[in-house]
Amino acid sequence: MTVPSYEDYTELIHKRQTVRHFTDRVPTKEEIEKVITAALKAPQPWKFHVVQDKEMIQKISSNTVEKATQAVIDRIMAGLGFTEPVEEPVFYGAPTVITITWSAGMGGSKGLDIGLAVMQLELAATTLGMGTINAGFSGMSNDMTRELLQLPEDEEIIVNVGIGFPERTEPTQPRFTLDERVTYH
Ligand SMILES: Cc1cc2nc3c(=O)[nH]c(=O)nc-3n(C[C@H](O)[C@H](O)[C@H](O)COP(=O)(O)O)c2cc1C
Repeated sequence: MTVPSYEDYTELIHKRQTVRHFTDRVPTKEEIEKVITAALKAPQPWKFHVVQDKEMIQKISSNTVEKATQAVIDRIMAGLGFTEPVEEPVFYGAPTVITITWSAGMGGSKGLDIGLAVMQLELAATTLGMGTINAGFSGMSNDMTRELLQLPEDEEIIVNVGIGFPERTEPTQPRFTLDERVTYH
């Protein structure tokens, strides 16, 4: 079995980065299906709701800002390094949101498993020239999202990932080194 090289893999990992400036280009169904196919290869099954209705995305975003309050948003944006007001600080203008859900009976450990699926999705998006934002913040609007997507009672929203084509990117946050974080026993 041939596998991609470690160098290729780490190059991809280094290329993936959170995007907070998206173009208006809406990813095609084929592009979205490619990234979701990668996520479906993660160890646990998830459900994926692809939201491309601008009005729905806007509603979730405005509701989140309203709930969080503008003062809190301004503080978070300042912490992220923004010096100007951010027009849409929840999905940052991502033209597509993938809402990942879990239903009772699907099993698994939600926290770990969702991380595995999201990272596979994000790395696949990177290979297609797309960028993503883990919009954890939008979880404040899960009640509204649930209603908009008409989710059944037993389907729980785990995370919303904004996805699209980067208008520009910023430097990634520094990471820890092996010395700082690894202990041998
Ligand atoms: C669970 C989770 C939720 C997050 N939610 C948000 C969010 O709502 N808004 C935001 O700007 N960044 C959020 N972040 C931070 C970014 O997704 C990203 O992890 C961080 O900025 C590091 O970016 P990098 O991986 O490109 O270096 C979240 C991160 C995690 C792990």
